[in-house]
Amino acid sequence: MSTTTTERLDPTPPSAATPMLEVRDLVVRYGRGRKAAAAPAAVDRVSFSIAPGETVGLVGESGSGKSTIGKAILGLQKASGGSISFQGKDITAAGAAERRALGGELRAVFQDPNSSLNPRNTIGISLAEPLRLRRVSAAEARTKAEDMLERVGLPREAVDRYPSQFSGGQRQRISVARALICDPQLVVCDEAVSALDLSTQAQVLNLLADLRDERGLSYLFIAHDIAVVQFLAQRVVVLYRGQVMESGPAAAVTEDPKHPFTRALVAASPVPRPAEQAARREARESLGVRTGAAAVPAQGGCPFRLRCPLATDLCASDRPALRRVGSADVACHYA
Ligand SMILES: Nc1ncnc2c1ncn2[C@@H]1O[C@H](COP(=O)(O)OP(=O)(O)OP(=O)(O)O)[C@@H](O)[C@H]1O
Ligand code: SF4
Ligand SMILES: [Mg+2]
Repeated sequence: MSTTTTERLDPTPPSAATPMLEVRDLVVRYGRGRKAAAAPAAVDRVSFSIAPGETVGLVGESGSGKSTIGKAILGLQKASGGSISFQGKDITAAGAAERRALGGELRAVFQDPNSSLNPRNTIGISLAEPLRLRRVSAAEARTKAEDMLERVGLPREAVDRYPSQFSGGQRQRISVARALICDPQLVVCDEAVSALDLSTQAQVLNLLADLRDERGLSYLFIAHDIAVVQFLAQRVVVLYRGQVMESGPAAAVTEDPKHPFTRALVAASPVPRPAEQAARREARESLGVRTGAAAVPAQGGCPFRLRCPLATDLCASDRPALRRVGSADVACHYA
C-alpha cells in the first residue's frame, strides 16, 4: 500500500468551487476563567469542509464533541478559536441579526423532534413559523406546509393535528419538513435518526437522501453509529475527545479504516445479522482496544493513547498530526 504525507486535513475534493461550509482549526471550550482554560477543549483544532451537494458524516463516541461542532456552526455555541465560513462568508462570530440574514439557508434537524415542535402548536403553525419570519402570508405558508408534509410522506390534513398525535418516526419526518420548508442550502442533522427503530431509521435516511438529490442539499450528518453515517455520507470525519482521528472518503474510512480508533468504532457498530455481529465482536476483541470506562483523560500526546494497543512513548509525548494514508487523512504515528 502506498503511503504519502500531507500537511492538512481537507475532506473536500480539490475540484470543488467555494465550499458550502468551511471549518478551520475550530476550538471550543466550555466554561470561563482559568479552570476552563486548563480543561481539555471540547473541540480541539478541527478542520473540514463540505462542498455544495455533499454530505459529510461526523462520527465519534458520546462526548467526543460532535454536537458542539454542530452548535458552533449553527451559532448556538461560541467558538473559542478558529473560523467557520458559510458560502465563503465568515460566520464565526455572526450575531443573531446576521444569522437571520442567512434566511433559511442553514438549518438543523435534531435527535429529539420535540425540540423543534412545540407540543401546544399544530403542525401547521410549527411548519409555518420559519416562513412567517420571512413575511410569507398565512395562506401561502399553510399551502407550503401541506406540500412539504406530503413530500415527507404525511397527509396534508396533518397541518391541523398536534405533535402528540404522531409516532416518533412521523415526528422526525415533520422535523425534516420544518428544516427544509425554507429551501436551505445546508442542513446539520444531529443524531437525526438515532432514536428511531431500524426500519423507521432506514425510511428517514432514504427521505434525507432523496431530498438531497432533488434539491442539491449539503448535509453535516452527525451520528455515533458509523454504519448510519456510511449510508448517507460521501466523506466521513472521525472524532475522538474533540480531535479529528481520521477523515476521508466514506468507503475508505468505513471499509478500510487506518486509525486504531476508527477500527474499533467500525467493529463496535451494530449490524442486524447475528452471524456478522458475532464476527464483529470477535474482531473488536482481537483489536485489544480498551473500553472508554477504563480510560483516564490523556493530556498531551495522542488523545487515544490510554486505550490504544499500539501506543509507545512517542504517542505519550507527541500529538500525531494528520497525514495522508491511502485516500484518507489519519492522525496516528503508526497508521
Ligand atoms: N453546555 C456544556 N457545558 C459544559 N460542557 C459541555 C456542555 N455541552 C457539552 N459539554 C462537554 O463537551 C464535550 C463534548 O460534548 P458534545 O455534546 O459535543 O458531545 P457529543 O459527541 O455530541 O456526544 P453525544 O454522542 O453523547 O451526543 C463533553 O465532554 C461534554 O461533557
Ligand atoms: S498515535 Fe499511538 S496511541 Fe495514537 S492511535 Fe496511533 S499508535 Fe495509538
Ligand atoms: Mg451529541
